[in-house]
Amino acid sequence: MADAYGVRQAGAAAPAVPALRWEELPEGPVVVLLDQTRLPAEETELVCTDVPALVEAIRTLAVRGAPLLGIAGAYGVALAAARGFDVADAAESLAYVRPTAVNLEYGVRRAVAAYDAALAAGQSPEEAAGAALAEARAVHAEDARASTRMAEHGMALLGELLPGGGHRILTHCNSGALVSGGEGTAFAVALAAHRVGELRRLWVGETRPLLQGARLTAYEASRAGMAYTVLPDGAAGSLFAAGEVDAVLIGADRIAADGAVANKVGSYPLAVLARYHHVPFVVVAPTTTLDPETEEGALIEVEQRAGHEVTEISLPHVLATGMEAGVGVPVAPLGAQAYNPAFDITPAELVTAIVTEAGVVSPVTRDSLAEVCSTSRFA
Ligand code: MRU
Repeated sequence: MADAYGVRQAGAAAPAVPALRWEELPEGPVVVLLDQTRLPAEETELVCTDVPALVEAIRTLAVRGAPLLGIAGAYGVALAAARGFDVADAAESLAYVRPTAVNLEYGVRRAVAAYDAALAAGQSPEEAAGAALAEARAVHAEDARASTRMAEHGMALLGELLPGGGHRILTHCNSGALVSGGEGTAFAVALAAHRVGELRRLWVGETRPLLQGARLTAYEASRAGMAYTVLPDGAAGSLFAAGEVDAVLIGADRIAADGAVANKVGSYPLAVLARYHHVPFVVVAPTTTLDPETEEGALIEVEQRAGHEVTEISLPHVLATGMEAGVGVPVAPLGAQAYNPAFDITPAELVTAIVTEAGVVSPVTRDSLAEVCSTSRFA
């Protein structure tokens, strides 16, 4: 049935196939991924039997999103250990496949530390592999718990910022169960609002060029039966101008010590729009995304991706081929140059609040972030 915005509301609320799982097969353990390049057309699983396969899945965005990259990195180390590959080499090849999301390196480091500690304690390589797997499972479970807490804190914050309820929330990229051990970051807050009848509309920016919003957030919103509308990224300005956005909720890939937020390219323009239109701009991220070692936003490495992602349109079945140039449908003249940063940096002064599992940081300053670090996993 069409709603006031002329958009059909889907009713299916079946749980999605898990974004990532560990499976013990007779021939050895594997990491099984829901292949996100094929969504929403197909729910296809990718079975990684070794680290190079997992590295390729990360490179092509079959598995993606900051918290899930951390989980994948940890399981990747466990996979190498369990299959008798060189763990240090595996860790090196995994940790920086995508340089912006700090969670990837974090997950890899945790599993390696558990493996090394087990060996140092005189355990066998098999026992050390078990320790790496236990640590990967812990990273996974902690992220699920963080997701629940972020949803609670995020809901409380929305209650304060928007006391009337009936929220119209704009989000960008994808930040739900597809990127998390739980229900996600920003999307988990919107989902919690939906469950208590307080979400009037989820505005979903399509997120050019790889369409994480249109393909993945819309897929998750549809499954959850949320009222959602996909918009071209360039339509956000007129949406704000029409007074249709009550709050922006996004995730993050890395948050520097000065509170600058790296997230999917297109987030920073939304923050500027939000400030101009006096709308709260809220970042929802677990503390695993905080990076106190990076002093300021300007020092965050922004992943630059291939130009053909911009000059060609790659629909899901094409993305799944590995996204080589010339495989998509060209939309620019042959030889056109493209600017394709995967992320942008939003300065702290444009961020109303950062919601973590350890609490809400607002205002976002070096000191307030340092305080949350001192009471969380950094303590
Ligand atoms: O390039 P992607 O799809 O991995 O980018 C993901 C994002 O930018 C998300 O918004 C981010 O990881 C935060 S959601 C947990």
